[in-house]
Amino acid sequence: MAILTLAERSKLIAPSATLAMGAAAKKLKGQGVAVMDFALGEPDFNTPLNIQEAAIKAMRDGQTHYTPPAGTPELREALADHYTSRGLPTKMAQVIVSNGAKQSIHNALMAVTGPGDEVIIPAPYWVSYADLVRLTGATPVLVDCPESQGFKMTAQQFRNAVTPRSKLLMINSPSNPTGSVYTKAEMEALADAVLETSVGVISDEIYEALTYGDAKSYIFSTLRPGLADRTITISGVSKSYAMTGWRIGWSISPEPVAKFMGDVQSQETSNPCSISQWAALEAINGPQDDIAIMKAAFVQRRAYVLDRIKTLPGVTCVPPDGAFYAYMNVSSHFGRTLGGVLVNDSTSFCMTALEKAHVALVMGSAFGSEGYARMSFATDLDTIGRGFDALEKFLA
Ligand SMILES: Cc1ncc(COP(=O)(O)O)c(C=O)c1O
Repeated sequence: MAILTLAERSKLIAPSATLAMGAAAKKLKGQGVAVMDFALGEPDFNTPLNIQEAAIKAMRDGQTHYTPPAGTPELREALADHYTSRGLPTKMAQVIVSNGAKQSIHNALMAVTGPGDEVIIPAPYWVSYADLVRLTGATPVLVDCPESQGFKMTAQQFRNAVTPRSKLLMINSPSNPTGSVYTKAEMEALADAVLETSVGVISDEIYEALTYGDAKSYIFSTLRPGLADRTITISGVSKSYAMTGWRIGWSISPEPVAKFMGDVQSQETSNPCSISQWAALEAINGPQDDIAIMKAAFVQRRAYVLDRIKTLPGVTCVPPDGAFYAYMNVSSHFGRTLGGVLVNDSTSFCMTALEKAHVALVMGSAFGSEGYARMSFATDLDTIGRGFDALEKFLA
């Protein structure tokens, strides 16, 4: 008889589908196949040198010990100043630095939700949201936001989703997986609808530095008076500064919430890596030239990707206004036999594309919407070009 039977909680979450896709791609690579990998949500650039140097200096200066669980005063103060200068008056006590934005989201949900609560999530949504909500015992309420409305939630959809049990709305602009960015007017309409209720907000702004054309990102809690009292703002260095491996994210929230988030973190993981915190401080306070260079590369890749999608038979895509993903509508291929395999949903489409064309994409079903495949263009133009050549043949 098994002694270590799994807790009930184990039924609440599924392994991340993006990781499953990554594992399948890795297996093929292990067999010597040259896989064109567009599954990963991370910049291919190296962390800028000034940031690396700051980490090396921190180590040499002996910054290799525990820090306060909520982060070093230097980094928290810098973040408070950073948000204050952008229109969100922030005290250090409101800032909790964590092991990546993902942990900040977990801390935030642990702090304010539990059994009986509902959390409204516009779908498509980032893979981890629903499972992180379930882990707290709360219920994710997924609201379908179709392509026809740019994958964005309208104020009316929010109003319709609210029940007496609604505790939070989770928003993410720019969005993973769709690249959609709410306009100021759309955000304000949503903000007004939120203010009519007693619902709080988690605003995941991790892609805030990556917008294209006229699109702009906004700090949600600055849009209307009163929002800052009910909003937990999340961001981090992973995407903007090519620092995914350093694991630094943060949250800005009302003080009592921040205090409890810090307490949760102090029991679960203690402080985020001391060296990474010094690196993140340099990222925020140091020269920003490398960011502009990386963004220029994303602008170029995005344009190329959109051009190539136009020539892919039966595939369309709402141009992403932010982040580094193209969310391609591939549903016209469902019911077809591709590479000898009957494809009837986004999972079979992506698995077959991987096996037959050696192109790794992520199925829309992982993001709560069927009919799509997400391509990350956080990779070099040459690989992107070869990927499209292979997809063209595969779909012909
Ligand atoms: C929307 C969104 N939020 C949060 C994260 C987590 O970022 P971090 O690396 O800071 O944990 C990701 C990473 O893919 C993301 O896409």
